[in-house]
Formats: sequence, C-alpha cells, structure tokens
Amino acid sequence: MCGIVGYVGKQQAAPILLDGLAKLEYRGYDSAGIAVENGEGIHVVKAQGKLMVLREKVSHTTLSGTIGIGHTRWATHGAPSDVNSHPHLSGDGAVAVVHNGIIENYQQIKEELLAKGYVFHSETDSETVAHLLDDFLKQGYDFLESVFLMLDRIEGAYALEMICRQEPGTIIAARKNCPLVVGKGEGENYLASDVPALLHHTRDVYFLEDGEVAVVTAQQIHLFNHDRQEVHRDLFHVEWSVDAAEKGGYDHFMIKEIHEQPRIVEELFNHRVDLEKGDIRMEGIELTKETLEKLSRIYVVACGTAYHAGLYGKYLMEKICRIPVVADVASEFRYKAPILDEHTLVIVVSQSGETADTLEALRIAKRHHARVLAIVNTVGSSIAREADDVFYILAGPEISVASTKAFTAQALSLAMICCHMALELGRMTKEEFRTICQDWSAMPRQISELLKQSAIEEALAKKYAQSKNVFYIGRGLDYLVSMESSLKLKEIAYLHSEAYAAGELKHGPIAMIEDETLVIAMLTQKALYEKTLSNIKEVKARGAKVIAITMAGDTEAKKTVEDVIEIPQSSWMMAPLLANVTTQLFAYYVARELGTDIDQPRNLAKSVTVE
Ligand code: M6R
Repeated sequence: MCGIVGYVGKQQAAPILLDGLAKLEYRGYDSAGIAVENGEGIHVVKAQGKLMVLREKVSHTTLSGTIGIGHTRWATHGAPSDVNSHPHLSGDGAVAVVHNGIIENYQQIKEELLAKGYVFHSETDSETVAHLLDDFLKQGYDFLESVFLMLDRIEGAYALEMICRQEPGTIIAARKNCPLVVGKGEGENYLASDVPALLHHTRDVYFLEDGEVAVVTAQQIHLFNHDRQEVHRDLFHVEWSVDAAEKGGYDHFMIKEIHEQPRIVEELFNHRVDLEKGDIRMEGIELTKETLEKLSRIYVVACGTAYHAGLYGKYLMEKICRIPVVADVASEFRYKAPILDEHTLVIVVSQSGETADTLEALRIAKRHHARVLAIVNTVGSSIAREADDVFYILAGPEISVASTKAFTAQALSLAMICCHMALELGRMTKEEFRTICQDWSAMPRQISELLKQSAIEEALAKKYAQSKNVFYIGRGLDYLVSMESSLKLKEIAYLHSEAYAAGELKHGPIAMIEDETLVIAMLTQKALYEKTLSNIKEVKARGAKVIAITMAGDTEAKKTVEDVIEIPQSSWMMAPLLANVTTQLFAYYVARELGTDIDQPRNLAKSVTVE
C-alpha cells in the first residue's frame, strides 16, 4: 500500500520527507515523490523507481521550504511512471495532494472537471482530488471548507494530505479506511500513514479515525469529525519498537495481512460491483456474450496459492457458466500440449505478476493466439504488462511469503468474473447476482467476526502443534480450500499435511490414519454435508482426532468430533473462503507455537522468478 508523510515546522522539509518515506519502504512501492512549499509556490519532484532515484533528482534541485508532503506509490490506477506518481498538482499549481486508497467515483468527477476546463496529466484517480479541491478554492471557500466539500463528493477509501498556496504553512489531512497518523513535535509536526516514519521524531501521536480531518501547522494540530466539529483527544504515546511498528503492532506481516482481509474484501467489492447496473465493472475487459459464445474452453493457469484460487474459479465457472474449464499448475501447463487457439481464453493468476512459470504459460498461450486475461495484484508487473487484459485484485502489497489476503482477493475476483460471464451468457439473473452481492457485502463483517474469535485457533494450535501428520478433507469447494489450507500449514509450520477429497480417503490415504492423526474437516457445503460427516466418522473410527470447520448452528458435527471451529452462516460460494481464514489463523498459530520463521519460511521466496 502507498506510504504518506508530511512535515511542517522550522527545518528544511525535503530531507525529513525523504527519510520518512525510507521508513515506509517495507510497505512496497514503485515510485515516489515530494512537494515542498516555500511561500513562493509549491515545488514537486517525483520519480518512478526506488527512493534513490528520487533522492538523486532532489539533489539536483533547490527544493527549499519548511512544509511539505511526500508519497511512495504502489500503483492501482495507471502504470508506475513519473507522471502517475504523487504528489499531484492542480492545474495552476495552487494545490498539491498525496493519496493512499481508491477514489471509486473518480471517473464521474473527472468528467465534470474536464467539462470545466481542467486538464488531467496522469491516469490516476488521485489527481481528481487536486483539481476538485482547486475548484472549491476558486469558488472562494477557504482551505478547510474546500477540503470538506471535496470529501463530501468523493467515495471510496483514502488517506489524503493536501497543501495549498493560498494558506501556506498548513497541511490538511483526511482519512477513510486507510491509516493516517499525526505526530506532535515541539514547534514542528509530522504526518505519516504509519508510525515507523515518525518514531525518529516523536512518539506522541494522534491516530486519525475514519471520517476525521486534521489541520496541522507548525504550532497546532486540530482534529475535526465528518460533521466539521472539532474533536478533542489525548495524545497516544507509542511504545512500539521500529520493527513492531512496521507490522502495525502485529508480531508478523502474515498476521497483519490476515487482518487486512475485511478491508480488502470491502474495497474490492466497492470497486468492482455496480449494484445499480447489476454487474461487475470490468473496466474495458471484453467478455461479451459474443466473445464467450465463441469460446471452446478456458484454461486457468497459476502456481501455489494462486493455483488454488484458480481451482475455486474453475469450479464456479463450470457450475454457473457451464463452460469447460481446465485448471493447471503453470509448471505443468508449459510442458504439456494444451489445446490453444483463438477460441481459448487463458486466465493466469499471480499475486506478484512475476512468477516465471506463469509468465511462460502466458507467453505460450499468446504464441498460440489464445486470449490471456491476467488476475494480478502488482500493477505494472511483467504478467500485467504482457496479458491482453488485466483484472487487478487490489489487495495491496503482500510482504509475508505465505499468501493470505491475495488468495481471498484472487478467489473473489474469479467469482466476480464468473458472475459477469454468467450474466452475459444469460445463465444468471440480475436477481441471483444481487443475492450473491448481499453475501459478498456481508463478508468483511463476517471475516472480522472470525478474527475476533482467533483465540479458538490459537488454543487449537497449542493442542495440536506436535501432530506428525495432518489431513485436510472436504468435498466440492471445501476440498479446494483444503488444498490451500494444507499448503499454508506446510510452508510456514513445516508440518507434513495433505489435502484429500473426503470421498477419496478410502481409496488409499485412510491407511495412514492412526491414533492421534489430526484431521481437519471442512463442512461448509450443505449439499455434501452428510457425505463428509460419514467420512469424518470413518477416520474417527481409526483413531483420528478431528477438528470440524462448520457453519454456526450445526449441532450434528459437535457430537462426533473433538473440536469445532464455527464460521458465520454463509452461502456455498462464500463459506469456504471464510473457512480458509480460520485455517490461515490455525497455520499461523501452529507456526508460532513451533517457533518457525513465519514471514520468511525456509527454502521459500516471495516471488519465484526462476523456473
Ligand atoms: O506471485 P504468485 O501468485 O504468482 O505466486 C505463486 C506462488 O509462488 C505463491 O502463491 C506461493 O505458493 C505462496 N508462497 C503460497 O503461500
């Protein structure tokens, strides 16, 4: 996710801003920039690439001034480039803005501003904020009122910092669903999207709440709520070490990223679902009835966790769209003889967008004239650049090697694409789509509920961490999610585990079940519930200890198994993704119990760019 810093005081702002951005590098970024105000105007320097490129550029300028804002960008709208980097200036340079998050309704506002004569230089949603703010200032409102009026217009998620020529010496900041912290110094004040950027200057901070606006000068910090009323709050004294602060107070990036899932699901939903139209916003991706009817098949190709998300997508597309879908791991696909032609759609899924096998699969598909749709997290990555179409999952940078939030966002993205295809093909009614949307919109709250009860997974992890063999079983979507759950346990806890289709156990693997073998059984699919319950009884009869992951209100499973993890009531499509959050937590706590290197497990790399 992007990083934001701000400074107002008596020292030169540029070096403080650059140092602050360096402290936020761990968040991931592809470009950076700063804006400094010196009474004569606002001066911006920005550059694609790492901070050293920006530092170099700054060193060739005389960027003097004691107030400024800075930003590291992780691209979402528009490729990484100098022009798309922040800060963004309004037309005549009266306003500079840095933004973290997504402005959902920027297109509409942009069109209005274009009609008023504003000229846009970047492809970003964020530039809209600069021009909109400028528009209110030009109408005669003061800086603060203009900010409030601008905030009334924009929808989406944001942490914003703004400076303006008309009121030099003031930074105004606002937040909704993206973090923002104001640090209090002596005759100087600081802003940042995260505490680590402030710790070298101050440990006294205000954490901005959603909907709040901060007006920050060298001497004062005033906080206002959404209704323009001043808010009085005590300063919070941060005790965290720098390392803990980078992880937002969590012990590891993995658990931090697990906790980001409610927000990510909500953002993805808001960004992609057009409730009025009853469809998914495909942003130019042409999957029309005509294109889809000409398709002979779809391949879904990916590696590891992304492959498991692909399996989830395949299941949905076949069941709902009735199109044949082949899912394959990229390292196999590239050496097979897949049937590829202009009537084939190849969907590649990759968090990093740099996985060598997936990239090669994409190239093979293109050489055979298949159309390639990439489902990617990292904007501007090789896979995103080379694919015909890209559907971004908007999960923000994933730092932990074990993929968690990306899986949820990939699976949901595939579900969204599936719904769009089904609507186009007339295999889903608008009514059915709206019912699915209701389930999606409940997910952030349901995931939050699961996260609040994580003491359950923590206790189970303590109880079962010494297991020698673990089996994850399930049927239908539960089986596919079992594979992902099993991978998570293997990669971070180094525990031997296998995922099996519950009905397949008796064809061999049940021979492995003995006293104390741990079996984690998923029971979220109502239509397959009784069948899986029978399989649970089979392993119980052979001495296994069983944890059942089942929906709230299920009294049956409790009679049979040792332990139960309940997930909120949900539909067949969404419930497995909720179950997966519980197994992410379980794997995390087992690994913690066993003392492994959770964020950097042995032998693994975050991005596998070699074959
Ligand atoms: O960046 P990608 O999504 O292409 O990465 C694919 C796999 O390497 C990745 O999902 C890997 O399996 C994760 N470490 C699993 O947690």
